Parts: sequence; C-alpha cells; structure tokens
Amino acid sequence: MVKAKQDTVYELLFTPITINGMELENRIVMAPAHEGMMDEEGYITPAYNDYYFRRAQGGPGMIVLGGILVNPRRFPAPRLSDDKCVPAYKNMIGRIHSETNTKMVAQLYDLLKSARGWRQSVEEVPIEQMKQSIDFFESGAIRAREAGFDAVEIHAAHGVLQADFLSLKNKRKGEYGGKKLENRMRLTVEVYERVRKALGKDYPIGIRINGDEFITGGTTMTQSTATAAKLAELGLDYISVSVGGKYDDSYGADPWGLAFPYPPWGGYSGFRCMPEKYMPEATNIYIAEAIRKAVRDAGYDTPIMGAGRITTPKLAEKLLQEERIDLAGVCRQIIRDPDWPKKAKEGREKEIKKCAYCNNCIETATVGPGGYCKLDKEKI
Ligand SMILES: Cc1cc2nc3c(=O)[nH]c(=O)nc-3n(C[C@H](O)[C@H](O)[C@H](O)COP(=O)(O)O)c2cc1C
Repeated sequence: MVKAKQDTVYELLFTPITINGMELENRIVMAPAHEGMMDEEGYITPAYNDYYFRRAQGGPGMIVLGGILVNPRRFPAPRLSDDKCVPAYKNMIGRIHSETNTKMVAQLYDLLKSARGWRQSVEEVPIEQMKQSIDFFESGAIRAREAGFDAVEIHAAHGVLQADFLSLKNKRKGEYGGKKLENRMRLTVEVYERVRKALGKDYPIGIRINGDEFITGGTTMTQSTATAAKLAELGLDYISVSVGGKYDDSYGADPWGLAFPYPPWGGYSGFRCMPEKYMPEATNIYIAEAIRKAVRDAGYDTPIMGAGRITTPKLAEKLLQEERIDLAGVCRQIIRDPDWPKKAKEGREKEIKKCAYCNNCIETATVGPGGYCKLDKEKI
C-alpha cells in the first residue's frame, strides 16, 4: 500500500499485477497515443525515442505505444512492416528497460484502403487482402518481439480494419460479416490465433476493442460484451476498452485531406473517444465496467483496462476500488505531465500539471510537430 503524504491512500493503484508473466509495477497504463514522430517511410525518429523514454521515467506500469502499422502500404504512421524498422525500436526499448521498470507494448494495426475522398468499405475487401492482413500481423508481431517489446496489443477499436469487421455495420455476406457475431469476429480471431501461434502461449497478447461505436447502426454494449467474453475465452491476456473514433462520423472519407482544418476525429464518436473537458470525468468507464462484468460472468479473470478522462490518481484508485476496471488507462494527462504516476506515488498530486482536455495534441500529432502539449513551453 502506498500512503501519500496527503490524505490519499493508494491500496490498488500501486499494487503490482502480472499479465501472462509480464509484471507491472502498478495499474497505471499510458493509453496509446499516435505521436506522429516518424519520417515519411514510417521510421521512428530520435524525438519518438526521447518522448517515450521521458514517459517511462514517469513510472507508469506500462506504456502502449500509439498504433504501429503492420501493412507496408503508404500511410503516415510509425510501422513494423519491414525488418528495417526493428533496430530503432530495439534501441528505444533497450534504453527504457535499462533505466526504468515500465513495460512496453506495441499496438499493432491495419487499415482499410483509402485515397482522397474514398475509403474502402468492409463489404469490398477481397479475401486475399484479409489473408494478407493476417500475414502482416504475424510478421509485425514477430518483429515487435525481436525489438524487445514486452507484449503486443491487437488494435481492433476505432477506425482500424478489424474494428470495421467487428462492427454491427459490417453487412458482408458470407463468413466474415453479417448478423452473426461469430462471423463479424472471424477476422479478429484469425489474426489473434496466428499471432498467438507465432509468439507462443507465454507471450502477453492484449486487444483493444470498442465498447460502443457511438454511430448510427454501430456496435453497442449488447455486442461488445459478448465479443469480450469470447476474446477472454480465446485467451487474450488483457482487454482494453475504448469507444468511438469512427470515420463514419467524421468529415468525409479522407478526414485528413479534404476539409482541413477541422478537429481531427471530429463528430460525436470522435469526442466520445477523446472526451473534451466539458464531458464528465471517467466518461466511458461504465462501458468498460459492463465488459468487465460480462467477462467475469463468463468465468474469466482477464484484466480490463478503461480510459477516457481518468483525470486524477484519486479517481483512478476509486475506479479500481469499485472493481469497475483493473487497469487505469491514462493518455492525455501523461502527455501533459509524464510524471503523473511518480507524483501520485510520492504524494505530490498537487504538483501534477493538469491536462486541459483541449485535444490540441491530436492535431499536432497529425500535422506536426508531434503529440506534445501546447501548455508546455518546451517539448516534453
Ligand atoms: C493524440 C492522441 C492520439 C491517440 N492515438 C491513439 C492510437 O493510436 N490508438 C488508440 O487505440 N488510441 C489512441 N488514442 C486514444 C487514447 O488511447 C485514449 O483512449 C483517449 O485519449 C482517452 O483517454 P484520456 O482521456 O486519458 O486521454 C489517442 C488519443 C490522443 C489524445
């Protein structure tokens, strides 16, 4: 138990947890944030290395890196789609592991094809593209392990390829879509099984899913609770619950190219994903809680992570105490103040620099110079 100098006692926040052999010092997870610090080929830059090193120094139990693309197609993202991408990650993770206890997780993803004004629909994806995507996940996951990552996370939330397959909006005919959950889950299950086979039963593999898409006709808790119970049964080592972030609710098929400037990931679905300051604290935790309950009712103790305006360590502790989540995903607050975990542990909560939840970091991560907080004079 960590007793802070002030009145807060952290019985759970600083209680270690082991996820398939990966020991986390505490329950604080830096939730994934696309940081936009890669060159045109997707190779990560020295700024990326410093950014995460600084955040690991702040003491979260684990950091899930912003999405890493496994598909070699051109797209502005950091990637593990080529062996040449591995050394820079290895260098960063070696540096972090030698000086901190923070565990490092690669969030791997693929996307539907898109061009200016056009985005492929799930119904159009040929089987060969799906098979290829499974191959990309396998090789990306193997590279992640080679680079020294402690775990991989399959990204199946927001607007990525697998999220669109899982969605209730997936009207594909045949075995990869339509009304049956089993069919909409098939691609994700195949990806997971391939990655599990490649990495072995002792390597931690997590997943991020949407608990609710917040779009008309999209997935709600009715489907996501059943999906999560099935994922737990399959052997996923943790389930991270997010919401929204769908292109369907954005400003056009190519939100970055067509009508800029406007708020990236705009629309209701986008703002539920990254709730702004006028939204309630712990905005989406009731959804993570429902998923946790469904997983427990199905007989699994798979750790569940929730995120979305977990503003203070005290609030994180409360959510853990109330058994609503097992891991506290904190994203923008750790962008704002990397020492959020350390300051909590040392009873210096009052020194935490507060996030304004303005979402400027999303814009700078997308158009440059990187996902830094505008409230900081220097780039941290
Ligand atoms: C700049 C930025 C980039 C993000 N990129 C990702 C991403 O790559 N993958 C992902 O799953 N979530 C991403 N998210 C969502 C966060 O992981 C998190 O769920 C969300 O910001 C809510 O948590 P918070 O209120 O603590 O910021 C991003 C959020 C921000 C602010």
